[in-house]
Amino acid sequence: MKEYKDYSLLTHNTFGMDIKAKRYVEYDSEEELKTMIPTLMGEVLHMGGGSNLLFKGDYAGTVLHSAIHGIEIVEENDDEVLVRVGAGEVWDDFVAWAVEHGFGGVENLSLIPGEVGASAVQNIGAYGVEAKDVIVLVETVELSNGQKRVFGTLECDYAYRQSIFKKQLKGKYVITFVTYRLQKKPQLRLEYGNVKAMLGEKEDVTIGDVRQAIIDIRNAKLPDPKVQGNAGSFFMNPVVSREKFLSIQKDYPQMPFYEVEGGVKIPAGWMIDQCGWKGKSLGRAGVHDKQALVLVNLGGATSNEIITLCETVCKDVYEKFGIEIHPEVNLI
Ligand code: EPU
Repeated sequence: MKEYKDYSLLTHNTFGMDIKAKRYVEYDSEEELKTMIPTLMGEVLHMGGGSNLLFKGDYAGTVLHSAIHGIEIVEENDDEVLVRVGAGEVWDDFVAWAVEHGFGGVENLSLIPGEVGASAVQNIGAYGVEAKDVIVLVETVELSNGQKRVFGTLECDYAYRQSIFKKQLKGKYVITFVTYRLQKKPQLRLEYGNVKAMLGEKEDVTIGDVRQAIIDIRNAKLPDPKVQGNAGSFFMNPVVSREKFLSIQKDYPQMPFYEVEGGVKIPAGWMIDQCGWKGKSLGRAGVHDKQALVLVNLGGATSNEIITLCETVCKDVYEKFGIEIHPEVNLI
């Protein structure tokens, strides 16, 4: 276990904010976590890779971080494997492992930043696949009493970028292991956006090819946090009623959209782009020039600058389209 006081989180948040946590604890095992829980006082924030949050200032409580590692096949038959992964594993290391072993299911989620624990909290998703499609079990420890609790997928109440761990049980459980179901005879999912186009005329496409295509798409569109601070998509894509969608479509026939349960999803990035924000900035906070859904730290931006840009963009989208958009990034 590692423990620090007044610890800088500069290298632990992809927005590149130089803020401090009063106490920072990194544990290596479920047992260590359980032993450490009684020492916790005041506010607690459990962090993963820090790739989906924006700190408004120094954090006065304890920041916890998992260093629980390990990728283990726990069950298999001719068609499937169940793989149990430590919450502290880097998500993309797990995806790379799965692809190397020929196990399908997560290749479309290649290069998503963050750690395995967060995949189960956030229900990460990209290119037509979401974490919930492959999650079988989520092992947790309850922060109030150190008791272990295992959640089945249905109990996690997954929806688009949502789970019970972000809603009713927010901050109450720490994820220690996630078990995923992967396929030995992978079914490729290439229908989303430009994945097929990226693969070109290639025959006998493998999950390795899909992983590479997605890495290429992401690298072309999304800024590298090591070069320019950002937290991926800053906003969620809103779902509007069919009625509302049809009325907007009259004015914008070229508007991209996806039919989803409960309505129609409209890409917030497209709306922000239509408002003329792509590549523009307010102070040291900018809207990424290749994907308007991403806000970037142009160098030394304060959280306030990012938040002001976020609010201005939301207001403009509302004025133009009558649709409220909301941050996907957690403001701490
Ligand atoms: N678009 C524009 N201009 C922009 C951005 C997008 O016109 O500046 C249009 C695109 O041309 C496309 C549509 O909007 O027709 C959707 O764009 P894209 O495929 O890039 O996806 P997105 O809806 O903007 C979501 C996820 C991404 C994920 C991609 C691919 C959310 C909040 N974001 O973005 O996730 O990689 O789909 O599946 O759902 C992340 O969460 O950090 C993230 C990057």
